Amino acid sequence: MFWKDKVVFLTGASSGIGEALALAMAKQGAIIGLLARREELLKELAGKCEQNGGTARFFAVDVTDANAVAAAAETLRNEFGKIDILIANAGIGGNNAETRNFNAAAVAEVININLLGAVNAVAAVLPQMLEVESGQLVAVSSLAGFRGLPKSAAYSASKAGMTAFFESVRLDVQDKGVAVTIIQPGFIKTPLTSGRANKMPFLMELEDSIPLFLNAIERRKKFAAFPWQLATFVRLARIFPAWLYDGIAGRAKFRE
Ligand SMILES: NC(=O)c1ccc[n+]([C@@H]2O[C@H](COP(=O)([O-])OP(=O)(O)OC[C@H]3O[C@@H](n4cnc5c(N)ncnc54)[C@H](OP(=O)(O)O)[C@@H]3O)[C@@H](O)[C@H]2O)c1
Repeated sequence: MFWKDKVVFLTGASSGIGEALALAMAKQGAIIGLLARREELLKELAGKCEQNGGTARFFAVDVTDANAVAAAAETLRNEFGKIDILIANAGIGGNNAETRNFNAAAVAEVININLLGAVNAVAAVLPQMLEVESGQLVAVSSLAGFRGLPKSAAYSASKAGMTAFFESVRLDVQDKGVAVTIIQPGFIKTPLTSGRANKMPFLMELEDSIPLFLNAIERRKKFAAFPWQLATFVRLARIFPAWLYDGIAGRAKFRE
């Protein structure tokens, strides 16, 4: 019953985790605003959501366009009266050019989409949530944000920033009726991780991960990290001294 008639604003809805989450929420009667850049995919997904018992609207918008994100949220609110939940999920992995070539523009692109795109989504929903003293912000961050990972400088930085941003926001809204849930997944099979030749530790099937996302949101968890094996290792690694961390993490080969 949790999802029935909940109004959800979901960024990064056109593929992978976002697409699977949208369908799962639709099956339980949610009203979903689907946001991403690829309109055809969103249109198709909106149709599937409606066929599965949900209500869906779609917005072909780039998360880096703050005005367009705000306008999409406003359209959703105007039609359904409120937004109950934001799921800030849009993100890119980056192509590793940032560290290989010291390419600042490539770093900026990852940070703009992953971190500032999520900030744009928060800005589009939080003032109205605070007005009614109700709502939930959900960040799809990553275990990659715990410490710097090899060949992932921009991505790790964007996810560390995302985690810190949402945690800071939580401190500011905790007594104002708005919950903040930060989800930190490890590796999940989606278009973002496909095509990597190297083995990713504890790689999860997308369908196995979706109940974990839903559970974290339903229980309004402050943090949810999975799979548990990798989450435990990463939490432990947080307290490793630099010499030990650099020795272990520097040899990790999950990205070419
Ligand atoms: N897969 C993993 O192992 C994993 C692990 C931890 C965290 N995550 C995080 O989970 C989130 C979803 O990733 P995924 O694995 O599902 O990858 P994905 O299948 O590539 O999905 C990424 C989604 O983000 C959207 N997006 C990208 N740039 C955007 C932009 N500028 N404006 C609007 N939408 C944009 C994409 O849609 P368009 O291209 O149509 O815009 C797509 O819908 C990301 O934030 C990712 O960092 C993934």
